Order: sequence, then structure tokens, then C-alpha cells
Amino acid sequence: MNILPKLTLVGAGPGDPDLISVKGIKAIADADVILYDDLANKELLTYAKSKVEKIYVGKRVGKHSHTQDTINELIVHFAREKGHVVRLKGGDPFIFGRGYEEVEYVRNHNIETAIVPGISSAHAVPALQGIPLTSRGVSQSYWVVTATSKDGTITKDVNLAAQSTATVIILMGTRKLQAICATFSAYGKQDTPVAIIQNGTMQNEKMIIGTINSIYDKAVKENISSPAVIVIGETVKLSDSSWKERLNLNQYFG
Ligand SMILES: C[S@@+](CC[C@H](N)C(=O)[O-])C[C@H]1O[C@@H](n2cnc3c(N)ncnc32)[C@H](O)[C@@H]1O
Repeated sequence: MNILPKLTLVGAGPGDPDLISVKGIKAIADADVILYDDLANKELLTYAKSKVEKIYVGKRVGKHSHTQDTINELIVHFAREKGHVVRLKGGDPFIFGRGYEEVEYVRNHNIETAIVPGISSAHAVPALQGIPLTSRGVSQSYWVVTATSKDGTITKDVNLAAQSTATVIILMGTRKLQAICATFSAYGKQDTPVAIIQNGTMQNEKMIIGTINSIYDKAVKENISSPAVIVIGETVKLSDSSWKERLNLNQYFG
């Protein structure tokens, strides 16, 4: 049998396994090998053919089990040995997902690649808490930034974002929360509303709401940890605890 090496990078969505695209499910069902991350819901692996090899290649903060180089090499190795490799990544692979690096590496090895975008936690997680990222008369744009740079320090973009009037969504920010709040305070944003949503779209999701002044203490008290999305801006005020009930957003949850 002729093996046709191929990589499909699939966005698994923000956590709820129903928030993957039909195209993503078709790719999983066609895979000969699946390499998956921490934030990709394991339930999605049930769409795979039986006996397909499913390999965990997660690299959670502080627990790097696989380096990016190893993952790149594994993709090429399995594509040549087995055929269709699906790389299943949380949210959208091109948003803080290092997806482009994987595609580039594999293309440089003359292996065909395809991309199935995913629903990013950056917008889906606030949405399911009734927090719009833009709203007429409240916020005209949104920025998605990471708080943590390559060398582990807070990014310069957090400083730039703090000066804007946009809704600011911060990923990978829980460990930098105190520094984030200090940055926003330095620009007179002490009273700006903040929401932090942990394990968004999942059954164990948890949200705290406060202001730049109060959110750090609340986060410590509530033991907020990764994965969490931090939303800073006036649209946070539009969130309403009865939102889910009223709009029945969870009607398709199992
Ligand atoms: C390496 S980034 C990957 C982002 C992903 N590519 C996306 O588009 O959602 C990981 C960060 O995304 C955020 N994140 C991902 N899934 C989440 C979830 N279900 N709930 C809250 N935050 C989440 C957290 O800030 C986490 O630290």
C-alpha cells in the first residue's frame, strides 16, 4: 500500500467538544495518527478510526513533556511511516498555538499540509459568559494579547493594550496578574471592569468579576489558575449571571 504523507492541523475549539468544526471531525475520522495537546478535549479522539495511534504531546506551563522540536520531528516521522497525521490543538492553532511553526517545518520536508481553523478561547470563552468583545457605544475593538513573553517576562503588548480603549483579552496571563493590574493602574484604569474565566466552555468553568483594583485579591482567594482568559474593559459590565439561562446557550450540552 502506498503511503501518502500528510499533516492536517486541526483547531479543537475552546474546550467543549461540540465546539469543533465539521471539517475538523472529518479530518480526525480520516487520520492514521493523532498528536494532541492538553487543551484539546480528549472526547474528540472518539471520532478517530479504531486502532489509530493517539499520542499526547502536551506541554503545560512548568511541565514541558515534549519540546517543539520533538513535536515537529514526530509529525514528519509519523507522516512518512503511517500517512495522515492530524495535529489536534486547543482553540485555533494560529492563535498562540505555534501552528505556523509546525506547518512550516513539515512543508520544508516536502509533506502536504492542510489547516482546519478552530474557535479560539479568546472570543468563545467570554461569549459564553455573555461578555461581548465589541458593543456599539461601549467598545469599538478588541485586542488579544499574551501576557508572557519568550523569556518569561510580561509582554510589551500588555503595556500598549493598557493605553488603548479596546476590550483587552489576555491569554496565558494568570501568573502575571499582579503585573497586569499594575500596568493598567499606571494608566489610570483602576476602576476598569475585569473578568477572569477559568476552564471556559467546560462543565467545571469558573468566573470571577472585579476591577483592576480588586481582581488580584479575588483571584488569589478563588484559587484561579491556568487555563484562564482575562477580559479587561467596559463590556465586562454587560455580562449577566442569568444570561445562559435566558438565551439557553447550553441547550446542546450533553
Ligand atoms: C497556548 S494558548 C493557546 C490558545 C489557543 N490556541 C486558542 O485559540 O484558544 C493557551 C491559553 O489559552 C487560554 N485558554 C485556552 N483554552 C481555555 C479555556 N477553555 N478556558 C480558559 N482559557 C483558555 C488560556 O489563557 C491558556 O493559557
